[in-house]
Amino acid sequence: MLKLHQITLRDEVFVSDREVVRSIVERTGFFRPDEVGIAVELVDERLSRGATSGYHFVFVEVGNAVAGYACYGPIACTSASYDLYWIAVDPRFQRQGIGRLLNEAVESRVAAGGGERIYVDTSGRPQYAPTRAFYEHGGFRCEARLADFYAAGDDRMIYVKAVGR
Ligand SMILES: CC(C)(COP(=O)(O)OP(=O)(O)OC[C@H]1O[C@@H](n2cnc3c(N)ncnc32)[C@H](O)[C@@H]1OP(=O)(O)O)[C@@H](O)C(=O)NCCC(=O)NCCS
Repeated sequence: MLKLHQITLRDEVFVSDREVVRSIVERTGFFRPDEVGIAVELVDERLSRGATSGYHFVFVEVGNAVAGYACYGPIACTSASYDLYWIAVDPRFQRQGIGRLLNEAVESRVAAGGGERIYVDTSGRPQYAPTRAFYEHGGFRCEARLADFYAAGDDRMIYVKAVGR
């Protein structure tokens, strides 16, 4: 079991996080190569444009290892809605509360930035049942389901959580 004193949160993004993110996202086994590429592009955007990119990161480190990360940011043309673009935990560290910690960290940062709602999309496919269970356990509820959005038989599920509730 993880010991609390081993765990640190980090918001700063380093060039080395390109490979960290690639490795974690790839090894979850959940994402296609093009999706892995997008996860890395979000890091690149942040590295080149800083906070104005609209992509904010939080990393959980256990000792010297990055155990997981989340990427979130304000949704353009909304007053207080945020998107949780990505959340992934290294398979070696899953089911130990790291995802929950990331959710809480994102929520407190969104609240501090004046955000009121966090949205996250996922797939309705059976493979994503654990992901949906994770969001539901974390206080998100499914607000909309768009049939066949990603592909035939692959629905888009839109979850939302009111910040601070
Ligand atoms: C989803 C994910 C981020 C969860 O991270 P995690 O650190 O394993 O989650 P936690 O240990 O904090 O779990 C919190 C709760 O979520 C639920 N949960 C998490 N993983 C679950 C699973 N595989 N099956 C069912 N419920 C699960 C449980 O209720 C769990 O609480 P419990 O362990 O006390 O029962 C991680 O499994 C992951 O990276 N998955 C692949 C990538 C992905 O789907 N990302 C989201 C889409 S971008």
